[in-house]
Amino acid sequence: MATSLRFFVPLTEEPSSNSPGAETMRAGTGHRPRPWRTRTRLGLVVTLVAVVAAGCRPVDTPFDRLVRDDLSFAAARVATTESVVPSSVYPQETDASGMWKTTPPSIWTSGFLAGLDWELYRATGSTAWRALAQVRQSGVESQDVNTADHDIGFKVFDSFGNGNRLTGNTNSASVLLTAADSLATLYDPDVGCLLSWGNPNTDFKVVIDSVMNLELLLWASKHGGPASLRTIAISHAKHLQRDHVRADGSTFHAVWYDPTTGSVLRKGTLQGNRDNSTWSRGQAWAMHGFTMLYRETGDPSFLATARSTADWYLAHVPDDMVPYWDFDFTDGSTEPRDSSAAAIAASGLLELARLEPDGQRANTYLLAADATLTSLSSHAYRSDGTSNQAILLHGTRFKKENNDYDTGLIFGDYFFVEALLRVRWFAPTVAPLTVSGVTASATDGFPATNTVDGNLATRWSATGDGQWIRYDLGSKQNVDKVGIAFDLGDQRASRFDIQTSLDGSAWTTHLGSLSSATTNALETYDIPDASARYVRIVGHGNSVDARTAITEVKIY
Ligand code: GLY
Repeated sequence: MATSLRFFVPLTEEPSSNSPGAETMRAGTGHRPRPWRTRTRLGLVVTLVAVVAAGCRPVDTPFDRLVRDDLSFAAARVATTESVVPSSVYPQETDASGMWKTTPPSIWTSGFLAGLDWELYRATGSTAWRALAQVRQSGVESQDVNTADHDIGFKVFDSFGNGNRLTGNTNSASVLLTAADSLATLYDPDVGCLLSWGNPNTDFKVVIDSVMNLELLLWASKHGGPASLRTIAISHAKHLQRDHVRADGSTFHAVWYDPTTGSVLRKGTLQGNRDNSTWSRGQAWAMHGFTMLYRETGDPSFLATARSTADWYLAHVPDDMVPYWDFDFTDGSTEPRDSSAAAIAASGLLELARLEPDGQRANTYLLAADATLTSLSSHAYRSDGTSNQAILLHGTRFKKENNDYDTGLIFGDYFFVEALLRVRWFAPTVAPLTVSGVTASATDGFPATNTVDGNLATRWSATGDGQWIRYDLGSKQNVDKVGIAFDLGDQRASRFDIQTSLDGSAWTTHLGSLSSATTNALETYDIPDASARYVRIVGHGNSVDARTAITEVKIY
């Protein structure tokens, strides 16, 4: 790991949010003191003071470097995992010596390694990751008809769901549609919920984790599946909202229903510390899942639940932003942590910050997510310097029953990487550089200047691999980030490279990547600082056709 990332040193004193150090952080990065807590990080303050004192505009921040370093560390770890784990089995958690223990494809975690491969394909644009993802998920395909439990959503959506979003692969779509129909067979209209697992007549239990499986149903109902899948997903979600989420925003892990009347028989836990405690990963699933439900439905009640579960989490999470395995335990406890809960929460908080209409709340969620990722990237949690094959240490899969804790967890790693890429949704607070000219290799009839007119409704596009658009900054500048909005960016993933040049003829490629296919707005792609007069985006088509179609670009 780069020496510059060794700065993560929690301060013991807590500077006031009005202190000069805190002001410098605001001015320098758009980072504000966490409203719920003023503790900050020594190295971050020192670095930013140095930047501002030199009179420079803030460019490559410590957080940018941290995310880039995390992504390359993640790629190295996942590459090793791919090389040591046979393709017919699936890593779940690490053993005492840090090696992956594996499962058959029927276990709920089987889709996450393929999901990591897909996320790394998105991060790097490297088709080698795409090939690994396709091989790894092929053994999970059989799960599309496994109706033993609700986990079909975890297995299939993180693998084939990501693959379909990034490549438009039609076989993936048919796997997802079959899987959604299979999941729907667990729905009981008398209860209004999907059974999580077990005997529906004697043990109709529903766990909060199930909120994560609803995205499969909502996706399927929009992509050729019956409308009833959406009705089922919303009915199930409304029950979770009513029965699992407490008035204060904390959550029960499990609720048991009478299968005939649908009434609640009991509320309690399976994986938490006590029936009335809050299991950390369950709380994180709720934050992530209700945010997804708000994104997919626009129902303000789901926003309210995403907020209340996030607010409760932030009010109770320990100082280093990584919960113990149950919220019964807090700072000073000797109980194990669950880094996977922190990774899931960070990813959910980033999406909540993106969707949140209240700017102050959005800022709070964004800062909390940044702080969580910073903590997870520190030596306390990232597996640097250890022989652990996971990215993150100190996950707890199931403490109470299996005494299964303090391990690497494949799903913690997956949500950590998902969160690192969600950082791209957020634009820098600094003004973009002025562009003095735009040219392109070709056009489908729309001028290149449409990408700098401040209008997301106009575009430049060109068809064919390698078509490019070039931005002239007028003079040599320090280039650190490129914001790009793609046409139909919420439906198509575009693959592209970012290059810079001092003279317009010799080009350096800094990043290959894919857009997320989740937004029409700009996503910000961070590159190591480069001195350049020209920036070029080279397109490789999108998940639907060979066009590169860009509506807006901003260079920082
Ligand atoms: N069943 C999902 C979990 O253990 O979090």
